[in-house]
Amino acid sequence: MILGMKVVFDLREKEDEKTLEIIKSAYDEPLGVFNLRGEAINSCIGCWSCWLKTPGRCIMNDRMSEIYKEYINSDTVVLLMDTAHGFINHRAKAFFDRTIPHYHPHIEIVGGECHHVARYESYPDMVFYFDKSILCDAEEQVIEDYLYRVAYHFKANAYRIIIDEETKLVPLSSRRPKNKNIEFGSVESIEKLVVYNGSPRKSRSNTALILKGISRELGEKVEIRDLKEKNSWQEWAEKFKHDEHVMFFMPLYVHAMPSHVMEFIESLSTSEGSISFFIQSGFPESSQSYYVEAYFEHLSIKLGRTYLGTVIKGGVESLQGRPIEAQEKMIEPMINAIENLVNDGKFNLYDIRRLARPIRFGKVIEILFNIAGKKFIDSFWDQQLIANDAYDISFDRPYEI
Ligand SMILES: Cc1cc2nc3c(=O)[nH]c(=O)nc-3n(C[C@H](O)[C@H](O)[C@H](O)COP(=O)(O)O)c2cc1C
Repeated sequence: MILGMKVVFDLREKEDEKTLEIIKSAYDEPLGVFNLRGEAINSCIGCWSCWLKTPGRCIMNDRMSEIYKEYINSDTVVLLMDTAHGFINHRAKAFFDRTIPHYHPHIEIVGGECHHVARYESYPDMVFYFDKSILCDAEEQVIEDYLYRVAYHFKANAYRIIIDEETKLVPLSSRRPKNKNIEFGSVESIEKLVVYNGSPRKSRSNTALILKGISRELGEKVEIRDLKEKNSWQEWAEKFKHDEHVMFFMPLYVHAMPSHVMEFIESLSTSEGSISFFIQSGFPESSQSYYVEAYFEHLSIKLGRTYLGTVIKGGVESLQGRPIEAQEKMIEPMINAIENLVNDGKFNLYDIRRLARPIRFGKVIEILFNIAGKKFIDSFWDQQLIANDAYDISFDRPYEI
């Protein structure tokens, strides 16, 4: 490849040379095109080998790992994506989740929010294209805001290609996410809550720990279905039409749901009943989850269900590493939130607001963190790198040419 070249990653399902040609003609230099159509991009499984064992490298061997070099060494990546159910589809989502190896586990606070430290000196501009003709204005805005946010966290400039009568390359900028536009609803009572576990982790999953506590407290009133069991998806998608009360409980992955959760969501159809969401994330601030909260509000409408709300709880990554007693203390308010929902048919808004704190960090905390707190958090990662004999290579840039 030519260094600094502009590359297109076509992640769409259907062949569409016409759009590709239009996009190519918008640039006055040749674009390298990588067609990932029909190629499965494996979902990230949250193993964190790319941070802690083989720094900068994903352990999976698929088409995605083959194009890491092209991604990192280009000056612009143009991503052609499909949408589904009003969001980017699971393939595009998997692409973002699998981009995590290009960043360090180490954290810095920027603008009151945690960011991962850059592994490489610079990152390509991110240019997004999706067909807007199948979206309503609100969905288009939710997707655009989300994509801007992804690029912002990936330390890249963000652009969108819009094809109307003419083709426009529009720079994207920060906008207040359109979350909390729909109020939390309520239902008479919940006899049974079906909870989908959206963590892709096979072991040491924080979600699994929390859901174990919820099962313990609520017994028969909850039915947990683990979305890792793909063989059951068809049956569950069918059941969804009749399951009265459904919750999606998941870790935050690149500001939204893990890609396999999106894939399952794509199979759901409109049906009566309620829907709610619970997002737990690594970073402590709930603002990190606002973009997917905005999407979940729209998804509820799309699925025709009563939206009971989205619970956001940050700072959960350390849960599985804590002693049992500390785990239980941390899990307790999350169990209470779901207990309230099941017993009262609605969330207790006061508790939900408390769980969501902090929304962002203030300036003083930001300064103190970057002086002292950062060292403490960094040592959490460094100790694991040392234990894996990977500390010496932790600052490697494996794909840099
Ligand atoms: C690929 C990937 C992307 C992630 N993206 C985010 C993110 O955008 N914001 C955040 O706060 N945490 C993020 N996390 C951290 C997880 O949300 C957090 O570790 C969570 O507690 C994992 O839950 P689990 O063990 O149940 O899978 C990400 C983790 C992975 C593996």
